[in-house]
Amino acid sequence: MRVVVLASGRGSNLEALIAAARDRQLPIRIVGVLSDKANARALEIARNAGIPAIHLDPRAFGQRADFDKALFAQVAGLQPDLVVLAGFMRILDPAAFGPWLGRIINIHPSLLPKYPGLHTHRRALEAGDRWHGASVHFVTAELDGGPVIGQVCIDIGSDDTEQTLASRLLGREHRLLVACIGLLASGRAAWTATGVELDGLPLRQPLRLGDDGQLAVQAE
Ligand code: GRF
Repeated sequence: MRVVVLASGRGSNLEALIAAARDRQLPIRIVGVLSDKANARALEIARNAGIPAIHLDPRAFGQRADFDKALFAQVAGLQPDLVVLAGFMRILDPAAFGPWLGRIINIHPSLLPKYPGLHTHRRALEAGDRWHGASVHFVTAELDGGPVIGQVCIDIGSDDTEQTLASRLLGREHRLLVACIGLLASGRAAWTATGVELDGLPLRQPLRLGDDGQLAVQAE
């Protein structure tokens, strides 16, 4: 499976995907990394791994939609089977990624549908939640609102802060992303007219990542 990754920053999810592909844990080839930030560490990680790294400067485009159009023209040129938003910090024009619906996913640090958008760790703490987590979902026109494939949960302790939550979650996010892409790459999971399917059956709730790094159907 040919994969293009869009990232704006640190690139730790990208690193996890590169490692999983290298270790033959994932049958994917990352064919390009695109970023809206020239100094994104993700671009450096890609270059070091010998992956084409492309920076596209939003300031060079008059309108947001023009940037998005140019971005997805680059994506199309790389001929991916799957586009992964991994810390890509821009809201995209649905018209630009319309042709990719069902083949574009995002990782988001909350238990969606809770806390779309920013500051998810803070919002979970402020709400007094017992549980927090991350979700991998198909991208749709609604911000962080598309159908969820899988989630990972952590409990929130009384001494947790935004920073401790973020750092406890990050490694699990990486495993979640790898596991979800594994299901897509093997054809076991897909988004069809009836929603997300696993092994040809509709998924009634997101899969849950276990301590063994495997995604499983949640008990009802
Ligand atoms: C991750 O927390 C991801 O869930 C969110 O942005 C962050 C990206 O981190 N969408 P990194 O750039 O992959 O290290």
